[in-house]
Amino acid sequence: MNSFKILLLENIHAVAKEILEGEGFKVDLLSHAPSEAELLKILPGYQALGLRSKTEVTEKVIKENQHLFVIGAFCIGTNQINLGAAKEAGIPIFNAPHSNTRSVAELVIAEMIALSRQLGDRNTLAHRGEWMKSAEGAREVRGKTLGIVGYGHIGSQVSVLAEAMGMKVVFFDVLKKLPLGNAQSRGTLEELLGISDFVSLHVPETPQTKDMMGARQFQAMKKGSYLINASRGTVVCIPDLVETLKSKHLAGCAIDVFPEEPASNKEKFVSPLQNMSNVLLTPHIGGSTEEAQHAIGIEVAESFRRYLKIGSSSGAVNFPNVDLPVKRGTSRILNVHRNEPGVLGEINGIISKQGANIEAQYLSTDEKIGYMVMDINSAQVQTIADQIQSLGRSIRTRVVF
Ligand code: NAI
Repeated sequence: MNSFKILLLENIHAVAKEILEGEGFKVDLLSHAPSEAELLKILPGYQALGLRSKTEVTEKVIKENQHLFVIGAFCIGTNQINLGAAKEAGIPIFNAPHSNTRSVAELVIAEMIALSRQLGDRNTLAHRGEWMKSAEGAREVRGKTLGIVGYGHIGSQVSVLAEAMGMKVVFFDVLKKLPLGNAQSRGTLEELLGISDFVSLHVPETPQTKDMMGARQFQAMKKGSYLINASRGTVVCIPDLVETLKSKHLAGCAIDVFPEEPASNKEKFVSPLQNMSNVLLTPHIGGSTEEAQHAIGIEVAESFRRYLKIGSSSGAVNFPNVDLPVKRGTSRILNVHRNEPGVLGEINGIISKQGANIEAQYLSTDEKIGYMVMDINSAQVQTIADQIQSLGRSIRTRVVF
C-alpha cells in the first residue's frame, strides 16, 4: 500500500510532500502546469495526482488514466477537473475549501479600518507628493456596527475579530446560526442594512445571491456607510453600486471579487469602479496568503492519506462521502460500483459464499455511483475483493488493510 506514487504539480506547498513522504508514499514534484499531452505522457507512472488551478484534467486524461486512485486540487476551486468523468472512473477529488477562511477575515478587518480612514486615497495622494492631513470623515471603527451577510466559515470569523476591536456585530443568514460572542442575528437583510455602518458580504454564489445587493438594497443602507465584498463578484450589481457611490449615499467600498475577473496576471483589469474616491479594489486576494497555502497543503495531503490508507472519502467533491472508524482485527475492502439495482445483493452474495463475516458495512450513493466500505473478518479478503471487482458493475475494488 505504501508504494503509491504521487505527482504534485504547480509548486504545491512543500508541507504536502513532507506529510505524504512521512506516510511512506513516494512523491515527485513538477513546478509547472502540464498540458494535456504532457499529462497523458507522465501520469501512467502515478496513482495520485495533486494540482492547483492551472492544470486542466480533461475527460481524455481521466479516461486514459483510470488507474489513478485520487486527485487533489490544492486550492479552493475544482472547475479545472472534469468531475463527472473522474466520478465515473471511481476517482474522488479533494480540495481545501476552508483553508483560507482566516486570511479572508483578516483582509475584511483591514478594509474596514482602511475605508474609515480613507487610507487608499491618502496613500495615493502621499505618493503623488500631496499632504492631506485632515480628520474630516475619518473615524474609528470602535463602537460602530458591522452587518455580516452570510454567517458561515468566513462571516463568523470576521464577527469574532470585529468584536475584539470593540465593534457591534449583527448578521443575517438564511440558515439558523449560533451567534458567536455578542453577535446578534437579524431576521431580514433589510433590517441589517438599515442599522449597519459597515456591511460585509460572505455568501456563496447561488441563483439566490446573484445581484442580492442592488439599487434597492444600497438605498436601504445607512447614509455614509460602507460596503465590503470579498465573497463572489456576482453578488453585487456593480452599475448600481457605482451610481450609489456617485450619489454619496455610501461613503466607500472595498471590492475583492468581480463579476468578470482577468484569467491571469497578464490580462488587463477593467472595472467601472476604477478611479472612484474611497473605493478599494483588490485582485481577488482575500484568501491568498502564505498561511493559506500551507493550510491547503496540509488539508489535501491529509485527505490523500485518509483515502489511500483507510478509504475515507469524507470531503470529496464529486463522490459519495463515507467515513468509517478503523476497526481492529478486520480487513477493509473498498468498492466503487455503478449504482444499479441488484449490485448490493451480488456483493453480499460473494462475501457470504466465502463464509466471511461482515463486521461493518457502509454504503453511500449518488445517482451514478455507489461507494461501499466493508470491514470483514476473513483470511480470504483478497479473493473476495477480486471476485467483487469481476462483477460487471464494479468500477474499482481494493483492499486497504
Ligand atoms: P460558507 O458556506 O461557510 O458560508 C456561507 C454562508 O452564507 C452560509 O452560512 C449560508 O447559509 C449563507 N447563505 C447562503 N445563501 C444566503 C443568502 N441568500 N442570504 C444570506 N446568507 C446566505 O462559505 P465561506 O467559506 O464562509 O465563504 C463565503 C464566501 O467567500 C463564498 O462566496 C466564497 O466563494 C468566498 N471566498 C472568497 C475568497 C476570496 O479570496 N475573496 C476566498 C475564500 C472564499
